[in-house]
Amino acid sequence: ALERTLSIIKPDAVERNLIGKILSRFEEAGFQVVATKMLHLTQPQAEGFYAEHQGKAFFAELVEYMISAPVVVSVLEKQNAIQDYRTLIGATNPEMQEEGTIRRDFAESKTRNSVHGSDSLESAAREIAYFFVESEICER
Ligand code: CMP
Repeated sequence: ALERTLSIIKPDAVERNLIGKILSRFEEAGFQVVATKMLHLTQPQAEGFYAEHQGKAFFAELVEYMISAPVVVSVLEKQNAIQDYRTLIGATNPEMQEEGTIRRDFAESKTRNSVHGSDSLESAAREIAYFFVESEICER
């Protein structure tokens, strides 16, 4: 089915001037960018976005990192977008990242892993609505 997923180009990638390269990887893989913007997350915004990870050992480090520099949030559209995007970015664990994935090519560590992607239809809907109102998403 035609799906939308929420992508974040994270602070480590923005700081290293990788925005264009990473957006190109999305487009080359067949994703259409239907909304995009840059923003510098506040602590409450980052904590709310990652609410499901509250209480985990890495939560404070994750939030501190996510507010350390701007991010680029995008809505990407494609057939089977959610699974295909996760395949494109690769695993969170650096030892599991397959060749050709965005994280294999750009991630610096498990935390500083360059990109985020929604993990299900339900989280995609929540995450898209977290950053965008419907009028910001463009039909293509
Ligand atoms: P993301 O796909 O954005 O979803 C949750 C984030 O938490 C993940 O990418 C990593 O940046 C971070 N993360 C997940 N697991 C760990 C971990 N074990 N240690 C540190 N950071 C983690």
